[in-house]
Amino acid sequence: KMHGATNILEQKHHVSRDKRGQILGNLRGFRGCTVWFTGLSGAGKTSISFELEAYLVSRGIPAYALDGDNVRSGLNKNLGFSKEDREENIRRVAEVAKLFADSGVVALCSFVSPFQKDRELARQIHEDAQLPFFEVFVDTPLEVCERRDTKGLYKKAREGKIKGFTGIDQEYEIPTHPDISARTVGSSVVDSMMQVVNLLVDKNLLP
Ligand code: PPS
Ligand code: MG
Repeated sequence: KMHGATNILEQKHHVSRDKRGQILGNLRGFRGCTVWFTGLSGAGKTSISFELEAYLVSRGIPAYALDGDNVRSGLNKNLGFSKEDREENIRRVAEVAKLFADSGVVALCSFVSPFQKDRELARQIHEDAQLPFFEVFVDTPLEVCERRDTKGLYKKAREGKIKGFTGIDQEYEIPTHPDISARTVGSSVVDSMMQVVNLLVDKNLLP
């Protein structure tokens, strides 16, 4: 278990969000926020997130994608896929995303994040810091993900070679109130990305 430090006092930065916004990107202004993509393995989280990252950066808006496969080879390389490790994975990533967002960057997080309470914690971490947080449910049926099986992981999970695979022998809790549901069957990656872009425009985070 975790052993938290005591005698910790928050240290206040000298730079305001307005000030950060003045130096950021071609389209100046503070746009820091986090977009959180959740869904089954192979649902299309990474594809939509990376498409959005490229879209924003090409328009001069600083954005950075944090992705499960990538974060798990660095920051979170000591974590596996038990319920406890997934919880810690999401907690750490949410804290990192908060720092990106606070710096004025649009943080794009693509994680299976199968448990409601972990996603709620991610949102809470942002709300406590008064940073916008949007949950995007990448809604692709299990049968479709398994048919795609882009990484061959479902096959391995069915053969019992991977234990605790989401949707096979570990649960995925469907988001009850996502900000967006992106149904990927019958719509393109760009279609799904535009759903998110439109939301960010509505929320005055994009011009
Ligand atoms: S979680 O649940 O949010 O902590 O998972 P995440 O950090 O997003 O990592 C998911 C990626 O790891 C691969 N993988 C697995 N996914 C789910 N369950 C199990 N047991 C598992 N083992 C490995 C897989 O490539 C996931 O990436 P995506 O992009 O979701 O397919
Ligand atoms: Mg992925």
